[in-house]
Amino acid sequence: MGFVYQLFAFLVWVQLVRSQYPGLQVSITTDGTYSVKVNGRQWLSSAPTYFMADGAMFIGGKNGNLSLLQSSASSGYDKIGEWQTSDFFYSAGSSNITASIKTYPYELEDDFIMFSQTYHNGATRTNRADVSSVIGRFPAFSVGSQDPLVSLFYLAYGGIMVGDTGKSIGVWNKTDVAMSYGLSGGPLAIFDQEGNTVIISPFSQFMAASVTHPDFDNSVGWGVMGGVQKVPPNYQYDTILYYAKGINKAFEGWGRLMRKLYGRTDDFVKTDLTISHLGYWTDNGAYYYYLTEQNKTYEDSMLDVKNYTDSQSIPYRYFQFDSWWYYKGAGNGVKEWEPRPDIFPHGSKALVQKLDFPIALHNRFWSKDTIYAVQNKGRYLFQIDTNGTVSAPITQDFWNYLLGRARDDWGLVLYEQDWLNVEFAGLPSFLNNVNLGNLWLEEMADAAKLWKIPIQYCMSNTRHALKAVQLDIVTQARVSGDYHPGHDQWRIGVSSMLAAAIGLRPFKDTFWTTTNQPGNKYRSTEPYPGLNAVVSTLSTGPVGPGDMVGGTNRSLLMRCCNEDGMILKPSIPATSIDRQLIMTASGAMADMEVWSTYSAMSVGGTVKYFGMVLGVDTAGFKLLTKDLNFMADAQRDEYIVFEHRSPQSHVTFTTSLTMPNCTKTNFCLYHFIPEMKIGNTHTVFLMGETDKWVPVSEQRIVAITPIQDTDIVLTVAGVRGETVRISYLLDGTLQTVTCTFKLTSSLMLSISNKSC
Ligand SMILES: *[C@@H]1O[C@H](CO)[C@@H](O)[C@H](O)[C@H]1NC(C)=O
Ligand SMILES: *[C@@H]1O[C@H](CO)[C@@H](O)[C@H](O)[C@H]1NC(C)=O
Ligand SMILES: *[C@@H]1O[C@H](CO)[C@@H](O)[C@H](O)[C@H]1NC(C)=O
Ligand SMILES: *[C@@H]1O[C@H](CO)[C@@H](O)[C@H](O)[C@H]1NC(C)=O
Ligand SMILES: *[C@@H]1O[C@H](CO)[C@@H](O)[C@H](O)[C@H]1NC(C)=O
Ligand SMILES: *[C@@H]1O[C@H](CO)[C@@H](O)[C@H](O)[C@H]1NC(C)=O
Ligand SMILES: *[C@@H]1O[C@H](CO)[C@@H](O)[C@H](O)[C@H]1NC(C)=O
Ligand SMILES: *[C@@H]1O[C@H](CO)[C@@H](O)[C@H](O)[C@H]1NC(C)=O
Repeated sequence: MGFVYQLFAFLVWVQLVRSQYPGLQVSITTDGTYSVKVNGRQWLSSAPTYFMADGAMFIGGKNGNLSLLQSSASSGYDKIGEWQTSDFFYSAGSSNITASIKTYPYELEDDFIMFSQTYHNGATRTNRADVSSVIGRFPAFSVGSQDPLVSLFYLAYGGIMVGDTGKSIGVWNKTDVAMSYGLSGGPLAIFDQEGNTVIISPFSQFMAASVTHPDFDNSVGWGVMGGVQKVPPNYQYDTILYYAKGINKAFEGWGRLMRKLYGRTDDFVKTDLTISHLGYWTDNGAYYYYLTEQNKTYEDSMLDVKNYTDSQSIPYRYFQFDSWWYYKGAGNGVKEWEPRPDIFPHGSKALVQKLDFPIALHNRFWSKDTIYAVQNKGRYLFQIDTNGTVSAPITQDFWNYLLGRARDDWGLVLYEQDWLNVEFAGLPSFLNNVNLGNLWLEEMADAAKLWKIPIQYCMSNTRHALKAVQLDIVTQARVSGDYHPGHDQWRIGVSSMLAAAIGLRPFKDTFWTTTNQPGNKYRSTEPYPGLNAVVSTLSTGPVGPGDMVGGTNRSLLMRCCNEDGMILKPSIPATSIDRQLIMTASGAMADMEVWSTYSAMSVGGTVKYFGMVLGVDTAGFKLLTKDLNFMADAQRDEYIVFEHRSPQSHVTFTTSLTMPNCTKTNFCLYHFIPEMKIGNTHTVFLMGETDKWVPVSEQRIVAITPIQDTDIVLTVAGVRGETVRISYLLDGTLQTVTCTFKLTSSLMLSISNKSC
């Protein structure tokens, strides 16, 4: 809590923040207007504040009818640090609302401004005819760069799949901005040619918050969604404006700050079997999506898949069953989430026993005639609106029952909540009420936490995804549209950046590992099984093929994993490099994908970054040191680089690498290997297990231990019966050591002795 220390004596004052170094500056005037400078240049200036109350709109500004009763400043201390605010106390009809601009001048790790709306005594009759609008707008900015000498670009997330399907990227000028808004809007990043980036997004009330654009004055603004009918007393909604140099850096920092303040842990991500291990998927795009083998039930078809994959030693660890197994009702929503006897004649327990696998289960929106609802003679309280198209459970008991039962019946290892956007938009009460959406996702998550079952979000608007920053049992989310053989839905480098910031593991969706799978319902082929496989693995999310019986390319698939189906992953999800985004925004390179990631490995107390770059449609793109997040360190290591198909053609990386014509068939996957030293005389470049997509992974090489000046010893993890080949350059000579796991799951590899 702070205290008011100053009522304004001046007509206009300017608050300078961190003027001693470049970054954000906000200037605020006593009439309630404000503007934002980045590195000394004005990027943004405010558009009028407004609030709905008593069935009318009150707009700020010179000729406006929103009364500004008082402007004041205060300061104080909270868990981020020492803050200062400028507060504008407005009266809108019978409602008193404060708009505040808060800065943390001494907080050096993060550079940001927080904008808050506080409804002191609440507000009534706030709703507008258009649910895509907002009932109050603060902050709001005019569209376009405010400095004629500064060219700006933008990336706006929107639509579903963590903001992938409705995202837009382009020039931030008065005429060319076309971004998603309202229920499907999402975080906005504005950046310059050098990658200096401002992110603006909701920072609280994630389910209720919306972005409005272009509104009535070609602006972009934030507030509570337009359908909300009343706001309770003391309701506060916050928007953050976060700055960093670098687009990826800005998302990382913004996400880290949110995760820290909301206390999101990584605990459930680490123990999620569907993230750590290979699974078999049957969702849209998979061969057996609403399709069985001829004249067979689903039960027999799944058992055939099991038999086939066992016979090929494909180490799946779980099966995912999509929406084809349960009962649907009105509007094709789920009526009863139980297995149909025509699908699984012997029931769930018998099947799970025969498969000897736990199951990941899909669920969709609830139908209005669901048997669980009290209204339909069921046992649980549901919200059913006469003018809605779906229903929604509004009691914790229901979720506890549903997920507890599924755990017992199926050994449930993942609850996939699909159709999040349709469930939300289809129930007027979700849109009218400022808190019901929160309650829905919180009750679902609390039950999942009770039974320790991780959740995957699918068809999430960014509001659902942002809400997950408070729900750490939500471990993963789909980040692109449904897979179909031959479709381009593997392009997840941009949406993965948002998912990763929130702490969600991105899921690319299922894929085929071979091109031709006869009799498929899509009448299609998959020309790029390799690209789909590598993208899945570099995502750090689930890897889940959906091949027909007889249709798996084992040697291709097993590049992801060890013999036990454990996925060998990089440390962070692969994301588009900044320059891909800047070039796309400026129209220079429409289809190019250049993503980077790394494995961070501890070597005798320091961290070494083993980098990876994936390139598609690169046509001569020149990769520079500044593009590589793993080389950010000023005193960076010496690196060699090789393309994954030809480890023997490694070269020293100095300042750049020209990527040839990498294509979808011949995509490029470069590995950047940092130098290690044995004493002062010997150099080692650990190239790792070069027949895997990720040759140096924390899962395979669990420790790298320098032994004084004589050796480096690798602790290599494997599965009994597995053979692992590890390559490295020792003083310039390529060595490959074979480790065979006979009795133990851990072996020591001596670099100097070239033996395991
Ligand atoms: C305030 O002004 C706006 C814009 O002129 C108008 O639409 C609105 O109805 C006015 N509000 C009230 C309470 O008169
Ligand atoms: C709104 O604020 C004004 C000025 O401080 C005060 O007189 C009034 O009582 C407040 N109204 C409510 C409903 O709190
Ligand atoms: C906005 O940017 C586009 C693309 O560069 C350009 O065609 C258009 O003329 C610009 N408009 C303004 C008003 O600057
Ligand atoms: C499936 O059943 C039909 C009709 O009984 C039969 O003609 C067909 O040969 C069967 N197909 C297979 C693969 O058994
Ligand atoms: C399992 O597959 C093998 C071929 O790998 C086949 O001989 C056997 O009949 C199959 N078993 C069942 C139960 O389908
Ligand atoms: C739909 O019904 C709810 C109450 O069930 C009501 O609050 C809302 O205004 C209605 N919406 C429309 C568009 O009729
Ligand atoms: C399997 O994948 C490998 C690449 O890993 C490829 O060389 C081979 O042709 C593929 N086989 C089939 C049957 O698709
Ligand atoms: C790259 O390859 C694609 C596909 O083969 C081709 O269409 C394109 O012209 C090539 N571009 C360059 C610069 O070689």
